[in-house]
Amino acid sequence: TEQEAPSTDLITLTRHILAQQQALGEKASGELTLLLIGIQVTSKYIASQVRKARLINLVGLAGDSNASGEEQKKLDVLSNDIMVNALRASGQCSVMVSEEVEDAIVVTGRSKGTYCVVFDPLDGSSNIDAGVNVGTIFGIYKVAPGSKGSVEDVLRPGKEMVAAGYTMYGSSCNLVLTTGQGVDGFTLDESLGEFILTHPNIKIPSRGKIYSFNEGNSLFFHEPTLKYLESIKYPKNNKPYSARYIGSMVADVHRTLLYGGIFGYPGDKKNKDGKLRMLYESFPMAFLTEQAGGVATTGSRRILDVSPTHIHGRCPVFLGSKEDVEDLQKFYNAWE
Ligand code: AHG
Ligand code: MN
Ligand code: MN
Ligand code: MN
Repeated sequence: TEQEAPSTDLITLTRHILAQQQALGEKASGELTLLLIGIQVTSKYIASQVRKARLINLVGLAGDSNASGEEQKKLDVLSNDIMVNALRASGQCSVMVSEEVEDAIVVTGRSKGTYCVVFDPLDGSSNIDAGVNVGTIFGIYKVAPGSKGSVEDVLRPGKEMVAAGYTMYGSSCNLVLTTGQGVDGFTLDESLGEFILTHPNIKIPSRGKIYSFNEGNSLFFHEPTLKYLESIKYPKNNKPYSARYIGSMVADVHRTLLYGGIFGYPGDKKNKDGKLRMLYESFPMAFLTEQAGGVATTGSRRILDVSPTHIHGRCPVFLGSKEDVEDLQKFYNAWE
């Protein structure tokens, strides 16, 4: 059979963002558009560095540790610097919070803008040296009315974010974005240097067949987590779920959005709030999940309702297909 001719009407990320801005009419100033265009350039830059890392001596440790007590990799530090510089230069940013920087960064002077960006510059850094998928996660708040831009502007529940997304550096480079009007996925066409809309209006299947937990922590898991896992591994219908766990949140969540199922990093007997950081890991992923029709909970409450008290604070995460997360929720409801 004859192959279809290539499309002559590409929807690039920039075109998509501009169209969303135009749809909002006079309400939209175009500032968020400029900020998002700045972020997409950082993703292209980080993607190219990740791809070349082994060749240009960018693997291994940087020699310092971050606010969560983790050893920083060279690529963690480089990705952080790329983002801080680009966000500052965009002129749209007032406050930044990065996994790799202890304190919030407040922009001063002429380049100060009206948005706050919280980000995980490189997610899954334990996977870098083996060439396994890594990513960048970001969330965006608007500075509160009357505020000049301070750390208070980001110590707000995730439901107040105006946009969130991630870029996955994998077998292809994919940027997935929500501005509160659903979720769209883009793939980097390296020959064009442009993100092209390849996954419009992503919706999570209402039930999946995959669970994604670090079961190596089972010794510490609380009863509801253990009982839920047992229920999907030894089900009455003899159709157990499959296990997939990459150990890069971006990759595990990306698969969950596309295929369905459940991803979890529970609070347990050792770490009451789990491992994932609220502002730049849990909130953006919870926002995307809800916008795709899924559910995101700590086990006891909706993630997006939680108020952070510290910029590097953590919370337990369960997210994914509506029915799967609701099944887990039943074990937690019965426990409390
Ligand atoms: P980061 O590399 O940004 O510090 O994040 C690592 C996180 C997340 O990507 C992943 O879901 C989780 O750590 C994996 O943790 P375990 O190795 O404990 O399973
Ligand atoms: Mn880290
Ligand atoms: Mn991370
Ligand atoms: Mn990270």
